[in-house]
Amino acid sequence: MKYGYFDDRRKEYVIQTPDTPLPWINYLGSNQFFSLLSNTGGGYSFYRDAKLRRITRYRYNNVPNDIGSRFFYIKDQDEIWSPCYKPVKSKLDSYSCRHGMGYSIISGSRNSIVASITFFVPLEDNCELQHVTLTNEGDSKKSFDLFGVVEWCLWNAVDDAANYQRNLSIGEVEVENSVIYHKSEYRERRNHYGFYSVNADTCGFDTNRDSFLGADKDWSLPDRVRSGQSADSIASGWYPIASHQISISLEPGETKELVFILGYIENEKNDKWDLPNKINKTKAKEMISKYESLSSVNKAFSELAGYWEDLLSNYQVHSALPQLDRMVNIWNQYQCMATFNMSRSASYYETGTGRGMGFRDSCQDLLGFVHMIPEQARERIIDIASIQFEDGSTYHQYQPLTKQGNADIGGGFNDDPLWLIGCTTAYIRETGDMSILDEMVPFNNVKGTEKPLLEHLKRSVYYTINHKGPHNLPLIGRADWNDCLNLNCFSEEPGESFQTCENIDSKKAESIFIGAMFVKYAGEYADLCSRLGNTEEADYVNKEIQKMTEAIETSGWDGSWFLRAYDSYGDPVGSHICEEGQIYIEPQGFCVMAGIGIQNGNAKKALDSVEERLTTPYGIQLLNPCYTKYHINLGEITSYPPGYKENGGIFCHNNPWVSIAHTVIGQRNEAFESYKRISPAFTEEISDIHRTEPYVYSQMIAGREAPNYGEAKNSWLTGTASWSFVNVSQFILGIRADYDGLRIEPCLPDELNEITIIREFRDARFNIHINNRKTGKIQIMVDGEKIKGTLIPLIENKKLYTVEVDV
Ligand code: GLC
Ligand code: GLC
Repeated sequence: MKYGYFDDRRKEYVIQTPDTPLPWINYLGSNQFFSLLSNTGGGYSFYRDAKLRRITRYRYNNVPNDIGSRFFYIKDQDEIWSPCYKPVKSKLDSYSCRHGMGYSIISGSRNSIVASITFFVPLEDNCELQHVTLTNEGDSKKSFDLFGVVEWCLWNAVDDAANYQRNLSIGEVEVENSVIYHKSEYRERRNHYGFYSVNADTCGFDTNRDSFLGADKDWSLPDRVRSGQSADSIASGWYPIASHQISISLEPGETKELVFILGYIENEKNDKWDLPNKINKTKAKEMISKYESLSSVNKAFSELAGYWEDLLSNYQVHSALPQLDRMVNIWNQYQCMATFNMSRSASYYETGTGRGMGFRDSCQDLLGFVHMIPEQARERIIDIASIQFEDGSTYHQYQPLTKQGNADIGGGFNDDPLWLIGCTTAYIRETGDMSILDEMVPFNNVKGTEKPLLEHLKRSVYYTINHKGPHNLPLIGRADWNDCLNLNCFSEEPGESFQTCENIDSKKAESIFIGAMFVKYAGEYADLCSRLGNTEEADYVNKEIQKMTEAIETSGWDGSWFLRAYDSYGDPVGSHICEEGQIYIEPQGFCVMAGIGIQNGNAKKALDSVEERLTTPYGIQLLNPCYTKYHINLGEITSYPPGYKENGGIFCHNNPWVSIAHTVIGQRNEAFESYKRISPAFTEEISDIHRTEPYVYSQMIAGREAPNYGEAKNSWLTGTASWSFVNVSQFILGIRADYDGLRIEPCLPDELNEITIIREFRDARFNIHINNRKTGKIQIMVDGEKIKGTLIPLIENKKLYTVEVDV
């Protein structure tokens, strides 16, 4: 069953009922100010860091769910309703939510009043604009009151939810005309404040939550809305909010428009005050006057549209499959922006209070984003590399506001360093900018330790070379890509973190997955070295890669598939001799991607085994059979009930690796089948089974062994976005940025006969037309001339390449 539809022309998903199985959200903001917004108006805003600079409040594990932190009420005589449906939940005569590129439009109507609110974060300012349009569609005059309300968070989201003894006494506000300023903690160390304004005269306000809600304290029916009379309350401690009450009257057919601004302002330390205890409001007033007029709001909105048009235009496909086009051209790229910005920090499943930016996550998120804004990707690479330690290992995460490595989680995830190579080479391929390798980057952000980025990549490679186990395979450390495969952990303490608890020092637990990563990414490093003329280093590393390949072939092959690991006793994990967890997905995809097993046929065997043992109609499970018991030597993976998460859920992130692996050995239809199985647009029909948003990927779909088989969880912030985009754009459709030009190696399924792709690459535009003759051989004509091989070399100053491809 579906709950809406794709409007491709407007690049929107249109939700037609407030009653979606879960809140279906969107992200607003592309720079520093971000908002999460659900289809019923829920969500919250923050500046750069969802933990340290939370602007509005979100209530965790709350029932009813998804109430807050922005609220609109219409009080029309005795009737009270919310245009976004929540929080009042009165029945609406009509409802729709259009989630678009960086904006959402939620509309509701009742008794001939139509209210529509366009929410977006303008490109240039740190604020959320709420453009409200009210129309009287009836045939008599309407007089009613509109309330626009936000609930402030006291900045540090963790403290806000935990430290009541302090923070119930720190709330402070100022009110001036139609602007409410939130200045908690501004009197001491904070140089920032929030404000909520409306460009109209108000007939009342409230800033104290209890005065506004009244004794019942329920957002669905606040006292002040019920009575139609604001209290003009000034918050002091407790729970500061901002509520504006505006009287509206509309003749039949008349429309009125209002603009609310939820803004964030920073002042210089020595310029914080206008008068004693009166904050300096200059910047807020500038922002407010900028958006005073509708024309400037509309201009900011069309600038946002232009921004997205431009970003998405770097890769566009036109095929006979609308689902493919809308994923590639719109939603998959859009999600890649969200994951790039958020890593795994703030979603409806990631609380924004825990993890910051993950090292491995951010490196992978960049792969699907780098073609959109390479400059931002460059900056990110430097930030990530700056939390690496001198020995090549690295912090696992960093906090976006401070950019310091997160000491609570520390390091020791032995796959981490190698991902840095993958994102750096992706950046160079996209831009040709080798200068990034000379960029001086510190270790652990310590001044004076700076070394060129290339040296950081080298240390990543040597970290693996220097940390191998008894089978000459890489030691796994705390975990590899699979955070839950904790082979040195042996935790018996309930609640103890599997990731940070003290490990045993087995020096035995090895990861075949990291081995495959090494073959792939040390290979990319060696290739860079030869490009830079350092053949000695390239030769040395290539020998190491050869050794690693042999180690995988001799000690990492189980007969019909690749083994997953050796545990700290030296026993195999992911082998047919295991009682449970006999085959894992990750090494099958990654070994083949790295080119292992292609010559001797093991690659095909491994993928056949995936098909036979792991593939379900909803995607490929992580392992099989699922663990039914807690295995202390394997860690968190065996802590989940069978079929969930890493214990045999369909962990979507690694599905594209298998799909790419199929393209590597030329299995065209198999590659596309596994792409489609988890692709949101292709599975829209089963929205009621997945339950998460049908326009973005989720981290996980419950596997066969789970009672809720097919149900998805953790939408939005998942590496699936980036790897799926890499898979479809670079391997299935086959257009890949390369150092010296654009590589064209399509691997199209039978069902696609003909496609056109437009790729903006470096300074040129490539118009590529591909005929799928299903020959498996690639022939390329550039501007009417046949070329040798599959690389279209770049010619200086040439702006347009017309490419005709037969495959
Ligand atoms: C989560 C983590 C990611 C990890 C994956 C598998 O998505 O963010 O870092 O690789 O789980 O455990
Ligand atoms: C990853 C895994 C999750 C695990 C977490 C630990 O996100 O998906 O299962 O609990 O890492 O940080």
